[in-house]
Amino acid sequence: MPIFPAETPFFYRNKLEFTFSNKRWLTQDEVTSEDQDIQRNALGFHKPGLFDKIIDIEFCHLQAEPSNIIRNKVREYCLANDYDFYDLRNHGGLMRSMMVKVSSLGEVMVLIQFGRNDEQKILDLLNFMVADLPKINSLYYVVNTKANDYFYDLELTHFHGEPHIMDKLGEVVFKIGPKSFFQTNTKQANNLFDTVVDFAEFQGNEIVYDLYTGLGSIALYIASKVKSVVGIEEIEAAIQDANINAANNNITNAEFYAGDVKNILTPEFALKHGRPDILITDPPRAGMHEQVTQYLLDLAAPKIVYVSCNPATQARDLQLLSPKYRVLKSRAVDMFPHTHHIENVVLLALK
Ligand SMILES: C[S@@+](CC[C@H](N)C(=O)[O-])C[C@H]1O[C@@H](n2cnc3c(N)ncnc32)[C@H](O)[C@@H]1O
Repeated sequence: MPIFPAETPFFYRNKLEFTFSNKRWLTQDEVTSEDQDIQRNALGFHKPGLFDKIIDIEFCHLQAEPSNIIRNKVREYCLANDYDFYDLRNHGGLMRSMMVKVSSLGEVMVLIQFGRNDEQKILDLLNFMVADLPKINSLYYVVNTKANDYFYDLELTHFHGEPHIMDKLGEVVFKIGPKSFFQTNTKQANNLFDTVVDFAEFQGNEIVYDLYTGLGSIALYIASKVKSVVGIEEIEAAIQDANINAANNNITNAEFYAGDVKNILTPEFALKHGRPDILITDPPRAGMHEQVTQYLLDLAAPKIVYVSCNPATQARDLQLLSPKYRVLKSRAVDMFPHTHHIENVVLLALK
């Protein structure tokens, strides 16, 4: 089937992470210029291939406002008040990174990552952000003194507003925390999940499994169309979010399990929940573990809908499933305009 195009090729990302650096990527003219007063600090994106050089972003076409306003005002404040920008090569500096989430319901979350605990400067900046920037519904910060800027293993401090922001997929409202995984292109995620619904042709009486469910996005999206749905996901916090989202949306026919799919999906599990009429799988880029594909052959669900962000591993898994399954349909969805990345949905039927 033809690729599902993105109607909105700009401002489609609901989440972006900007990096502070004291080594701005300079243009050729700047490199050769004699000007000694060139601004070296930057807040933006990594120059591809150069881990310590950051392109200072004035206007980003990837995320809706107030993302640009917030980023530019924070940079302006930090420059005006002598906040030091992080040195990515030598590891030091106060201002490290900034994550901005803008939901399709217009709610905004910001997380600022600091490189050291300079309490006064941290408080001054956060108070400025609350008082002088467009409304931030949820503001977090974290002090990260590790060599890498991964913050998912750190405790975040909630500074202002709500602990979550809200977003919506189909009729389901999701609570999004600073560490929650959520499809980054909300509009196209609706089209992706509608493609899953279209391929599955639910009749209303099916038992469905949703493997690699994240915070239950697909499971909750389809729950009203099926008899029951069971989701499996290895991140415990995502499963807690899935249960909260199910309760908040009065969905009572969805159950979630935390753990590695290869350990949870066993013959006992299938006995307890019933053999699935339709199995949905949406694994990470590495695809499914061979033990999982082997078990899917034994489980023999009449239909499998395979959602993938990496067609190469998807093709490998389809080959492994080919002794018992044939491919009926395949459709790519353009989730990430201006990049080569796509999501691909394949419908498999038991031979
Ligand atoms: C591509 S995401 C899909 C998320 C979800 N279907 C959605 O649309 O939001 C893949 C998910 O698989 C989870 N995951 C990765 N390896 C796993 C494993 N071995 N067992 C269970 N879940 C796993 C990741 O944490 C992530 O949430």
